[in-house]
Amino acid sequence: MVIYFSGTGNSKYCAQLIASKLDDECVDSFGYIKNGIAGEFVSGKPWIFVAPTYCWRLPHIFEDFIKTANFDGTVEAYFVMTCGGEIGNAGATLKKLCVTKGLNYKGVLEVVMPENYIAMFDAPEDEEAQRLIKAGIRTVERSIKYISEGANFPENKVGFIDKIKTGPTNPVFYKFFVKDKAFFATDACIGCGQCEELCVLNNISIKDGKPVWHGNCTHCMACICKCPQEAIEYGKISKGKPRYRLEG
Ligand SMILES: Cc1cc2nc3c(=O)[nH]c(=O)nc-3n(C[C@H](O)[C@H](O)[C@H](O)COP(=O)(O)O)c2cc1C
Repeated sequence: MVIYFSGTGNSKYCAQLIASKLDDECVDSFGYIKNGIAGEFVSGKPWIFVAPTYCWRLPHIFEDFIKTANFDGTVEAYFVMTCGGEIGNAGATLKKLCVTKGLNYKGVLEVVMPENYIAMFDAPEDEEAQRLIKAGIRTVERSIKYISEGANFPENKVGFIDKIKTGPTNPVFYKFFVKDKAFFATDACIGCGQCEELCVLNNISIKDGKPVWHGNCTHCMACICKCPQEAIEYGKISKGKPRYRLEG
C-alpha cells in the first residue's frame, strides 16, 4: 500500500505513479492528519511511504502520522522522498522509525523534483520544472523493480555534512524558521477559503474575508503555491517568484 503526504503535488504524483505501476492502493494521509485520525491500515503488499523532504528528513507531521498509525499485514517498508536537491541522512531516521513501528526498513529512494520552498528558495520556471519532473519520473520507474522483487533500495552515500544536516540542523530549522508570521494575503485575495481547506494543520481561518494564520504551520507551501489568485505572500521573500504546484 502506498501512503503519501504532499504539500504541492510532487510526492502525490510519485505516489500515484508507484501505485499504478504496482497495481496497489494509494492513500493520502491528508484527511487523517487534518482530522486528527490515527490510521488503521492492512496490506499484504509492502508499505511504501512517499513524502517531501523537509530539512533533510521526513516532514515531522508525516513522521507523527506514521508513529500513531497501525500497520497490519506485511512488515516490509520502503520510503520515497521527493526533494529539491538531496535528502541528507534521512535514511538513518527512517531506520529508527521502522524499529519503533516493528517494520523492516527496505531503504529510501531520493527523487529530485522541482523545489517548492518559495519561503526560502526559488521554484523553477515552467520549462525547468518539466525537465525535473521527467527526470524524477524516470528515477521512480527505474526503482519500481526493487519493490516488485522485494529487494532493498540501493544505499545512499552519506557523508559527515549529511549527518549534520539531518541531525542537529533539522530541529534548529523547525524551531527558528518554520513560522507562519510572514504569511499575508494581498488585495488580490477574494476570500475563497481554499487556503483554509488546503491547510493540513487547520492553521488558517478566514476572518473578514481574508486568511489568518494561527501559529501552527509546517511550511508545506500548499496555501501560498495553490492560491488560485496568487494572493498569498511570505514577507518580501516570495514576491515575484513563480508559484510551484504539480497537478495531475
Ligand atoms: C519546509 C520545506 C523544507 C524543505 N527541505 C528540503 C531539503 O532539506 N532538501 C531538499 O532537497 N528539498 C527540500 N525541500 C523541497 C521539497 O522537498 C521538494 O520540492 C518536494 O518535492 C515537495 O514535495 P510536495 O510537492 O509533495 O510537497 C523543502 C521544502 C519545504 C517546503
